[in-house]
Order: sequence, then structure tokens, then C-alpha cells
Amino acid sequence: MDVNKTIKELEVALKEALDGVEKIEALQDVKAQFIGKKADLSLLMRHMKDLPNEEKPAFGQTINEAKQRFSALIEARRETILAKKMANKLKKETIDVTLPGPSYTLGTPHLLRKITAEIEDLFMGMGYLVKEGPEIESDELNFEKLNLPKEHPARDMQDSFYLTEDTLLRTHTSPVQVRTMLEYGGAKPVKIICPGVVYRRDDDDATHSHQFMQVEGLVVDEKTSLSDLKGTLLAVAKHMFGEDRKIRLRPSYFPFTEPSFEVDVTCSQCDGDGCSMCKQTGYIEILGAGMVHNNVLEASGYDSSRYQGFAFGMGVERIAMLKYGIDDIRHFYVNDLRFNHQFKGGKS
Ligand code: PHE
Repeated sequence: MDVNKTIKELEVALKEALDGVEKIEALQDVKAQFIGKKADLSLLMRHMKDLPNEEKPAFGQTINEAKQRFSALIEARRETILAKKMANKLKKETIDVTLPGPSYTLGTPHLLRKITAEIEDLFMGMGYLVKEGPEIESDELNFEKLNLPKEHPARDMQDSFYLTEDTLLRTHTSPVQVRTMLEYGGAKPVKIICPGVVYRRDDDDATHSHQFMQVEGLVVDEKTSLSDLKGTLLAVAKHMFGEDRKIRLRPSYFPFTEPSFEVDVTCSQCDGDGCSMCKQTGYIEILGAGMVHNNVLEASGYDSSRYQGFAFGMGVERIAMLKYGIDDIRHFYVNDLRFNHQFKGGKS
């Protein structure tokens, strides 16, 4: 037997086999086939015993060297396969840095939230606390303690959603006035604003909604006067509509204030000259206000001979509509992003 010839043949066969191998698993099989325990090369060792002793070392060495060569060939193939695999992976995962990136649209707080925050900011700067109350309210706090006993005709001004005989969805934020005065026990001054959602049985249209937002204000102290109210409202008007605004108070009626007023601000579009926005009057109504009625103070535990107060309530949607020329209140509630995104930026 010519061992060198056999090895040569095996080597050619190995090279051929390796050429066709593309996967590491397949390489394992080739390895077992050519240098494993049962490989022809290993089996050649069996012939050793038939050789004369002096030839045995050379024979063994030849086979061992062949094994090493075969091993090196297999290793080289392994490296080629791994390199190819890596090259492929890199190719597949190549990032084209010149492509435009994905674009993310940044959200924005809702306009009503922003206006409320602006009003809160203004009042907190003047030392007011922000108070909130429940949207499901008792008839007693929503009406009775605000000087609106049952059967009072002014209850019709605020058509209500009753849940039971004594509970309703609050029709205004004024019950938070009562809640706070009761909490303070008639013993200390009050200076609060109360933002929140209110409900009325209105038919929805461009200027009415069965649900909307108000911000209420209440100040009760021993020397609170109408001029304090006027100064405060002027500050609100300037803050929301610009430094040049003026206000006027028109006598009105609310059961919980006496005297009561509707408050108008000079039209920011025509500066008071008259235009279509203010219906040629030069003024736009922005809120209701007045001096807290003695009955309200007394019902909430305040001694009306010692304390006086003023209160006001404004509709947040109305302020937003006037400020931004929004023509339909329903825009606030449908969550059309084309609307919402027009009010990006600014505070909060
Ligand atoms: N609560 C009144 C309303 O909703 C507004 C208001 C509040 C008026 C406080 C005067 C004083 O119509």
C-alpha cells in the first residue's frame, strides 16, 4: 500500500469537499469524515502493525502530518465561511446615513389646558390658591347655599343634569366657593381660584356646549371692596387680551352676588372702535362677577357684618375663542390635531 498516494487522494477529496461547504454545520460533517476517529486517514493507522518496526515512526509521522494539514485546511475553510457570513451580515445591516430619519410629531397641551394654566399662573402670582371640587355636586352646594333655594326662578338660568333628586352635575364652579368657605370655618380670609368642568342642559351649537370649563374666583376678607374686584378683573383682561385693554362693568343679576355685573373688555380687534367681532359695540363680554351676597357668606359660616367678598366666574372656551378668533366651540372637543397643533408653543 502506498500511504503517500492514499493521503494525496484523500487530500484532493478533502479540498473538493471543502469547496462545496458553505455552512459551519456542513463543515462539521466534512471534518468527521476526513479527520474523525472513523475517517480513512485514522483507519490508515491500523496498517502500522503490519510494518517492520523501523518504518513505524516515519509512517506514524506521515499520517500525523497529514492530519495536521487536513485540520489546517478545514480551519481555513471555517474562517472563510465565518468571514463571508460576517460580510453578508454587515451588508444587510448597512445603514444609509443619508436617508431622512423618521419624523415624530411632538404633542401639545390642549388649548383649554393652556388658557387655564395661564389664568392659574396669573392668580398664583397674586397670592391665590388653586382649589378644585367634584363634578358631581349636591343641590345644596350647587344652588341652595348660593342663595338659590328650590323653586327660585333663577335656577332656570342654568338648566341642570340631575342624577338623583339631590345630586347633579355641577352647573358652575361656584360650589367650590362654598366648599372652601365651609372648610375654612368662617375663621380666615379666602383667596382662591377654582378651575373645572361644568355641565348644562344646553343644545350644542357653535357657541353652546353641554359641557364646558370655567374658572371661578373668590376673595373674602375684612376690607374687600368693589374697587379690588375691578382692579383684579382689569389685570385678567390685560393678561389675557393685551396691556391696552380696558374694562367696563354692566349691572347684571346673579343670586349669589349683590351687586352683580357682566364684565366687558374693549375689543382687541378694533380697540373699541367697533367691528364685526364686537358687533359694532367696541366691547366684548368676558365674565360675570359681583360682591358676594350676605346670604352666601352666612350660609357658609362667615359673619357678613365683618367679612365682605368678591367673586367672578369666566368661561375658558369663551376666553380662548375671543383670544384666537375661534368661531365654533365644538373645535375644542373633537380632537382634530390640525386644530390642536395650531396652539403649540408658549407656556406649559
Ligand atoms: N357662576 C356664574 C355662572 O356660571 C358666574 C359667576 C361666578 C358670577 C361668580 C358671579 C360670581 O354663570
